[in-house]
Amino acid sequence: MKHMQTYFWMLLLVLGINDAVFANEPDSVYLVSYATLHDKGRSGLRFAWSADGKNWNLVGNGNGYVKCAFGHQKYINSPYLFQDVSGVWHCVWELNDTVNQFAHVSSTDLVTWDRQAYPYLKQKQQFRRPVVQYDKSSRQYTIAFLSGNQYFKITTSDFKTFDEAVAIPASAYKDDRVTLNLPGAATVTGNVCKVAWQVVVKLTEAWQIKQYKDKQAKESFLQDSIRFNGLKPLTATVSLRPENRKPISDLLIGVFFEDLNYAADGGLYAELVQNRDFEYEPREKLYRDSSWNSSHSWTISGQYLGFTIDSTAPLHSNNPHYAVLDAKQPGGALINSGFDGIPLKQGDRYDFSLFAKNYDGNSRDLLVKLVTQDGKELAQARLHIDSRKWKKYSTMLIARANAKDARLELQPLSAGRLMLDVVSLFPEKTFKNRKNGLRADLAETISAIHPRFIRFPGGCLAHGDGVENIYRWKNTIGPIETRKPQPNIWGYHQTVGLGYFEYFRYCEDIGAEPLPVIAAGVPCQNSGLLTGVCGQGGGIPMNKMDEYVQDILDLIEWANGPANSKWGKIRAEAGHPAPFNLTYIGIGNEDLISDVFEERFTMIYKAIRQKHPEITVIGTTGPFHDGTDYGQGWALATQLQVPLVDEHYYEQPGWFINNQDYYDHYDRNKPKVYLGEYASHGNTLYNALAEALYLTNVERNGDVVRMTSYAPLLAKEKYTQWNPDLIYFNNTGVKPTVNYEVQKLFGNNAGNEYLPSVIKLSNEDEAVRKRFGISVVRNTNDGSVVIKLVNLLPVATSLKLELGELTAGSKADRSVLQGQPGDKLLPVTVTATSVGNILEETLAPYSLTVWRIHK
Ligand code: AHR
Repeated sequence: MKHMQTYFWMLLLVLGINDAVFANEPDSVYLVSYATLHDKGRSGLRFAWSADGKNWNLVGNGNGYVKCAFGHQKYINSPYLFQDVSGVWHCVWELNDTVNQFAHVSSTDLVTWDRQAYPYLKQKQQFRRPVVQYDKSSRQYTIAFLSGNQYFKITTSDFKTFDEAVAIPASAYKDDRVTLNLPGAATVTGNVCKVAWQVVVKLTEAWQIKQYKDKQAKESFLQDSIRFNGLKPLTATVSLRPENRKPISDLLIGVFFEDLNYAADGGLYAELVQNRDFEYEPREKLYRDSSWNSSHSWTISGQYLGFTIDSTAPLHSNNPHYAVLDAKQPGGALINSGFDGIPLKQGDRYDFSLFAKNYDGNSRDLLVKLVTQDGKELAQARLHIDSRKWKKYSTMLIARANAKDARLELQPLSAGRLMLDVVSLFPEKTFKNRKNGLRADLAETISAIHPRFIRFPGGCLAHGDGVENIYRWKNTIGPIETRKPQPNIWGYHQTVGLGYFEYFRYCEDIGAEPLPVIAAGVPCQNSGLLTGVCGQGGGIPMNKMDEYVQDILDLIEWANGPANSKWGKIRAEAGHPAPFNLTYIGIGNEDLISDVFEERFTMIYKAIRQKHPEITVIGTTGPFHDGTDYGQGWALATQLQVPLVDEHYYEQPGWFINNQDYYDHYDRNKPKVYLGEYASHGNTLYNALAEALYLTNVERNGDVVRMTSYAPLLAKEKYTQWNPDLIYFNNTGVKPTVNYEVQKLFGNNAGNEYLPSVIKLSNEDEAVRKRFGISVVRNTNDGSVVIKLVNLLPVATSLKLELGELTAGSKADRSVLQGQPGDKLLPVTVTATSVGNILEETLAPYSLTVWRIHK
């Protein structure tokens, strides 16, 4: 990788380490490979070297050179490293006793590692303490291991296919691992190989590069008073080079919505009743919360009312549980407390509905009330339950007063049994007054970014925890009572009331491209918590993949097909006869790029390309900006000519400041990039400005980076599982972050042409230069020119920018975000102004200034 080379040479130049460390080199040394016991090898495969086999030195200070990627556990137990006859290194290790699999990975230099594989043993057995040997006569490798008290071996010629395990006598098993004392008094067990000294040199260099990068990433504003001690205010002279302009993507700023942090139910989805379908399940909380069951959020009042959950004669097979109310006499009520209370606004109207049936054919009345915590009634309506069969009943409630935490009460008015399900309360004022719609304030806050696309429904949620938990779009459309709720990989419940129809409708409502992400036939690489079985479980079985691929093709028909097509008809019946104009589909989400993944991804990709060449598929390149999945994901996408790939990285602000050239080196002939998830670690102005600085560089590379979305988008206070997020909220308020202000400024000031510029700073020190950013774009549709200026320095910068014929006498808007670097909430000030041929102004310390010059 070009980046790596740059770092390496910088490292040699800046630190001059190489010669100093490696004087008087030996030709070859012993190398022991081991994993630490205290963390079950989670920190990776480590090395130590010795010239004499007695005195050992840590390689890279005990750095983990390859980490296990299996399931949520990521154990490396009893690794065994082995070099094959062609010089390729192989490492095998134990996973855990719940799976009959083991791990294998190979490398040519021990620095860069190939994709990992978790081959299955053909019979159910343990795989412990593997030892690898080569048999010259058969040209086969044997992996001997222990299962219970019995030794076995499997043979392979290529480490890809393995013969069935056969039992071997204990005498045939020769474990040559040694136990050693390493510097720092650590005692480790591993196997020893003889290697050329250059192997250790390369490992050490790799570690030094990592150190250097880590140090850069840790640069923070807390060191600015030392880093910029004595720095005087700067001047910056900028000359534009409009003659060198280039077209850039007009989809650069979008959003990524995932139901994490209660973003959907209890969040953007405006439903006010929690567990409306009585489908909460204990496994969603891994059986750790005894209240998390079908009756969660529901209580009863009054001693004459019985409340049980039944599933004998459900409303719909996808929604098996329902409430049974047995009233011995009137007076008691079934109460729902919403998501920490039901917020109400005085005078607002609320759509109430439920499905109900009476048990014996006798009609019964049900009083529906909204009451405050201290029992004051705020609204009431009466329903007449007149059917023995499931029937929908609806009414309207008007709140007589404001309330932050009201509750819903359902009170049978006569003795007898009633069954209830899908009890729903929606504000009438949803976003654009849509039925089954979105919370207006949240939807408006997102829409104010002016996102050009929305990626949904995840993230990890899209590929789920285990094959059974993969998000299936067909379960999320149609009447809400027929949708199939499911456990959320983030440890709670998804009603899927906010389903594909609602996502597409929201995109249309705000003029954003819909970007659904579909699992690539494999679940999340961190799977195992919900299922109890660690690992991806091999993905969807190949004999079920045709059906899975068809589901994806059906999605395209559902979104784009005519109203008389099979799936287009379903969309039309849901109230949307016109197509949704789906153009992009993401396949996969930061997956482990394994053979299992490749087989399924390729199948899906080829099927879409063949049937729907008009659809742009977005592939995936793992969870980081480097490493095995990144390299392998890119290689696969390049080979298959996938048009776009989805990159993800969450980093410290220093990383964004120090990697502004990240996309400068990208090959323009390879797939284009969707930076689908990124964020710097924090919600301070400094973080936001580091992101802004990075985005100015993304705009410069807007020919290769086509889309970006900060992640995660939403987080409910008290239910935040992931920090930082872009927008925090509670039941009654929305709290956009300073990072949000940056997204909004970029989203509302996008262009489709990049105009290069040359900056001359009065101080060209590297640390200074890196903290000053500019991007000039033009929107050819309205002729406006936008100049974004980031000053991430503790001093002001006087700017002089010659606009030439670009703008003379034009009206402009100037938006400024500025403050102290640690500030968390800041307003953007917008001033209407005008600008001549030369733009002169003083950029405040720690500021983002955006000039939009109108034609
Ligand atoms: O954005 C939160 C999570 O981060 C996403 O679900 C996943 O794709 C990534 O690991």
